[in-house]
Amino acid sequence: MDIKFELVPEDQRKPKPNDPLNLDFGSAFTDHMFSMKYSDDCWHSPLVGPYTPFSFDPATLCLHYGQGIFEGMKAYRRGDRVFLFRPEKNFERLNASADRMVMPQISVDFVLDSLKQLLRVESDWIPQEPGTSLYMRPTMIATEVRLGLRSSHEYIFFIILSPVGLYFKDFVPVGILVSDKYARSASGGVGFAKTMGNYAASLLPGKEAAELGFSQVMYLDSHERKFIEEAGTMNIFILFDDELVTPPLTDTILPGITRDSLIQLARDSGTTVNERSVSIDEVVEGIKSGKVLEVFGAGTAAIVAPIGTLFYKGESFTVADGEIGIITQRLFDELIGIQCGEKEDRHGWVVEIS
Ligand code: COI
Repeated sequence: MDIKFELVPEDQRKPKPNDPLNLDFGSAFTDHMFSMKYSDDCWHSPLVGPYTPFSFDPATLCLHYGQGIFEGMKAYRRGDRVFLFRPEKNFERLNASADRMVMPQISVDFVLDSLKQLLRVESDWIPQEPGTSLYMRPTMIATEVRLGLRSSHEYIFFIILSPVGLYFKDFVPVGILVSDKYARSASGGVGFAKTMGNYAASLLPGKEAAELGFSQVMYLDSHERKFIEEAGTMNIFILFDDELVTPPLTDTILPGITRDSLIQLARDSGTTVNERSVSIDEVVEGIKSGKVLEVFGAGTAAIVAPIGTLFYKGESFTVADGEIGIITQRLFDELIGIQCGEKEDRHGWVVEIS
């Protein structure tokens, strides 16, 4: 498939944000986007064209039944060099999400090439101040006009780009509400898929946590409300003495690419990492006894987010005096250094756009 280019004339392009460090996450968008359509069992009409609103019939399937999936990725720039981080993993995960949501597969090679072409057009939009990047949002939605509940026969896949600073403005430990009321996902459900409804379902728990002064919600398993699963939009890690633990990948947990990368980086530096179930009681006991030394969340947008306090069943538990842990800081520095091409990429994760 040949990609068509319809570029915005230079003199009609938007001004670039002059302070990317202070941008609200995902509030500014570049001049162009990539899109392609799916009908009659195939993808077609790939286009790098102006960033432009869609116009939908009110009966479009995704507006009613949430048949939509997305990804989050980042591009970094240092001088003339532009770097992507394990981009094929995001498109493979998009295909896994598509499979669960009965949506069509994309060709990983083709969309990766399309993304590179889009980025070549938009390279001036990639900020290069420390902590900044160009956040990329590949998305697939069901576009058939129909109210009967079945999977759509038509889709749009698109990628939009947004220059961003850090997701959490400062790299400081955040307080988290451990919810024994809400669950993020249930066994047999769609927790492992990056589908829109998972995020919509997290809004009420997030709102209630924010009203109590917490920035994220930690979810427990839906069955017993016993084992920790995820923290807001992030996977979660806990350092018990010298053992770094993260819950194993089940169908209720998003298989984070940041999660996977941090596991490998921690192991590289000799830390024991175990993917095992961990109960909230073990965490609380560990915080009380001093065995829990660090807690942090991990995700594309936030990268690594130190967690200082857990609030559970009316009590507050502060991890290691609420300071940023040594391993948390080291993994953050290491990962962001690799992602922006400043640190050695021993695993061959970084893809440079030429
Ligand atoms: C990401 O970490 O990229 C996500 O998709 C989370 C989103 C809420 C920003």
